[in-house]
Amino acid sequence: MKLELVSVSYRYPGQQEYALKEVNAVFEGGKTYLITGPNGAGKTTLLLVAAGLLKPEEGYVTLDGIRLDEHTRDLRRFFGVLFQNPDVMLFNPTVYDEITYSIKQIEKNEGLIAQKVEELLKFFELNKDILTKPVYTLSYGFKKIIALISILIYDPKILLLDEPHTNLSKKFVKKVAEVIQTKKECGGITIVSSHNRRVYEGLTDCVIYIVNGRIVKKTCK
Ligand SMILES: Nc1ncnc2c1ncn2[C@@H]1O[C@H](COP(=O)(O)OP(=O)(O)OP(=O)(O)O)[C@@H](O)[C@H]1O
Ligand SMILES: [Mg+2]
Repeated sequence: MKLELVSVSYRYPGQQEYALKEVNAVFEGGKTYLITGPNGAGKTTLLLVAAGLLKPEEGYVTLDGIRLDEHTRDLRRFFGVLFQNPDVMLFNPTVYDEITYSIKQIEKNEGLIAQKVEELLKFFELNKDILTKPVYTLSYGFKKIIALISILIYDPKILLLDEPHTNLSKKFVKKVAEVIQTKKECGGITIVSSHNRRVYEGLTDCVIYIVNGRIVKKTCK
């Protein structure tokens, strides 16, 4: 599997400055990548463009040679995006509705869905009681985990995680590391955006340093 950004430039509507400028990058299956760099460097923008959620002004993104902008609907299920701010992606009344929202678009077998929910709760060591809670009552860290579960449940081949460890307890930081490791072992791609390189040392195959929307350094093991 290969996800490729080809000379991608992106500007937010109404902005003069580019958030990404002529970015070329290749992400391969079975590998984990860390995107790092200062505030406002373009880390989040890179993830959103790589997921096909933002359309490049110039250049394009391909998954195994297929252009994302031309096949958005077909390719959507291959991508799981954890947003930097979980509030952006949580909108359902209860945790159960939230967790199962995406998978219900592609899987109609309710029993199978319930089984997956159970497995994920077990993995994250969460009590079933959480399922009936309204999402807004959860702490930021729990919201982040619920948002992550809502992605993991449909088993996307590509995980794009924007600052996943922010406000997480030690236990959940470890669980996220396990998720990343498992994705790697299954041949998937994980791209993590983070200020904090230390958390991901040992987990990542390549570190990509971005400044002012440009990749300035790439170090691979
Ligand atoms: N919705 C938006 N509208 C206009 N400009 C934006 C928007 N989102 C981001 N930007 C700008 O685009 C540039 C890149 O932002 P981005 O959020 O990708 O950086 P980042 O590296 O993820 O930052 P952070 O470390 O704070 O998460 C910044 O200059 C930012 O101000
Ligand atoms: Mg960001």
